[in-house]
Amino acid sequence: MEIPYRAFEQKAERYAYILAQLERILEETDDRVAGLANASALLWLLMPGLNWAGFYLMKEGGLSLGPFQGKPAVPWIPVGKGVCGTAALEKMPQVVEDVHACCNHIACDLNSASEIVVPLLGHGGEVLGVLDIDSPSPAHFEREDLTGLTQFSERLMDWYQK
Ligand code: SME
Repeated sequence: MEIPYRAFEQKAERYAYILAQLERILEETDDRVAGLANASALLWLLMPGLNWAGFYLMKEGGLSLGPFQGKPAVPWIPVGKGVCGTAALEKMPQVVEDVHACCNHIACDLNSASEIVVPLLGHGGEVLGVLDIDSPSPAHFEREDLTGLTQFSERLMDWYQK
């Protein structure tokens, strides 16, 4: 499957393209690891300015490292710890403009400056995991990213629970 890189000036247009390409990816497999791996590769390909993009999945009461792109990362995060664990605990997305000023941040890559984490919720509202994306630029993520990545996560979890 060839997914062409395209540059966009407007984030909303970029997210529309990402969502369209996500459909192509999900049509090709029912395998959860394959789908999440390709979903992280899609974000890595199409979102400029990232240094980490991937998933933590709920396992045995904590967040276990799932498919991702970027440097090796902490393999397990307790619920409530770090930005990921906070998103899982509160079932709320977290947008951190400056990770160095955020006391509850677990550093995986010292180049990370800002971060967005979206909880992955099941049909019953349960937390299945989180989508975590880091950038080396401060305040890289804004409202449009939250909107686009929330749609991305919801579509992915529909497929994940089939
Ligand atoms: N920064 C995250 C840990 C995961 S790495 O960024 C990949 C956190 O504080 O939960």
